Amino acid sequence: MFQPGLLKGKRVLVTGGGTGLGLAMGRRFLELGARLAICGRREEVLTEAAAKLTAETGGEVAVHRCDIRDAAQVEDMVAALWETGGIDILVNNAAGNFIAKTEELSPRAVDAVLGIVLHGSAYVTLACGKRWLAEQRKANVLSIVTTYAWTGSAYVVPSAMAKAGVLALTRSLAVEWGGRGIRLNAIAPGPFPTPGAWERLVPNAELAKTFETRNPLRRAGEHGELANLAAFLVSDFAGYINGEVVTIDGGEWLQGAGQFNFLSAMSDADWQAMKPKK
Ligand code: HXC
Ligand code: NAP
Repeated sequence: MFQPGLLKGKRVLVTGGGTGLGLAMGRRFLELGARLAICGRREEVLTEAAAKLTAETGGEVAVHRCDIRDAAQVEDMVAALWETGGIDILVNNAAGNFIAKTEELSPRAVDAVLGIVLHGSAYVTLACGKRWLAEQRKANVLSIVTTYAWTGSAYVVPSAMAKAGVLALTRSLAVEWGGRGIRLNAIAPGPFPTPGAWERLVPNAELAKTFETRNPLRRAGEHGELANLAAFLVSDFAGYINGEVVTIDGGEWLQGAGQFNFLSAMSDADWQAMKPKK
C-alpha cells in the first residue's frame, strides 16, 4: 500500500515537524508525494530540517515559526497556510514534557506542558477545522498521544493530563465532525528514542536501556515504523477509521497491565516443577 503516490496532492501540516518523530513523519509523507508544512518555535531548526528533507526527497517544505500556545500565532499561521491552498491533513505532534516529582511542580511548570500539548493541539485543530467545515473540505487530523493517556503515569502528570485531553478531543470531534468529512485519529507510541524526549525523560544510559527494552519485543521502536503507521492513518486507505487510537509500543503497556504477566520471569525448570504430579 505504500506506493509512491499514496499522498499525492495532499497538503500536510506537522506541528513540531522540525525534530524527532515529527521530522520522521514529514519525511515519509514527502516520500509518498505530499506537500509538507512544519511549524515550531525555533526558526533555525525548522529551516535546517526543511533543507534536509528537500535534499533527501525532492519534496516541497514550507516553514512556519509558531508557538502553538499562542492562539493568535496559530490563527496567523493557519491563515497563511490557507493563502497557499490550505491543508488536508493536520498532525498534532508538537509537545512539551519533563519528569518531575509532581508535588514540586510550580504552576508555570504545569502550564508549560498543558499549554503546548492540550491548548496548542486544540487551537490548531479548531483553526483548521472551522475552515474545513466552511469549505466542506475532506480532511483528517492525527494526534500523537501516549499510552499513559489512558493509564496515567507518575512523574509526568501534566503530560498525562494533557494527552488524555487530546485523546478526548480526538474521540469527541470524530463524532461531531465525522459526518462532515473530517476524520480524527491518534497514535500512542511506546519508546521511540529522540534527543528531545530522551534528554528530558531518561536520566541516564542505564535507565534508557531499561526503558527501551521493557516490552515483549525487547527493543525500542524505529522511527520508520511510526512514520508508516502515520502515513496509513492519514491516507485514504484508512478512510473508515475514525476516533481510533492505535498503539505502537511492542506490547509495553499491556505487559505492565496483565496480572500474571510477571510469570514471564519463570524458567522452564520453574514451570516443570509446578506441574501437577501424576
Ligand atoms: C520541574 C520544570 C522542568 C523540570 C521546566 N520546568 N523544566 N520544572 N522539572 N525538568 C518549569 C520551569 O522551572 C518553569 O517554571 C516552567 O517549567 C516553564 O519553564 P521554561 O523553561 O520557561 O519553559 P519553556 O521554555 O516554555 O519550555 C517548555 C518545556 C521544555 C516543556 C519546559 O521542556 C520544552 O520546550 N519542551 C519541548 C520539547 C519536549 O519537551 N520534547 C519532549 C516531548 S516527549 P517556574 O515556576 O520555575 O518559572 C513526550 C513523550 C512522552 O511528550 C512519552 C514518553 C516516551
Ligand atoms: P521532540 O523532538 O522534542 O519534538 C517536540 C517538537 O515540538 C519539537 O520540534 C518542538 O520544537 C515542538 N514544540 C514544542 N513546543 C512547541 C510550541 N509551543 N509550539 C510549536 N512547537 C512546539 O520530541 P519527540 O520525541 O519527537 O515527540 C514527538 C511527539 O511524540 C510528541 O507529541 C510526544 O509526546 C510523542 N511521543 C513521543 C514518544 C517518544 O518515545 N519519543 C513516546 C510517546 C509519545 P520547538 O522546541 O522548536 O518549538
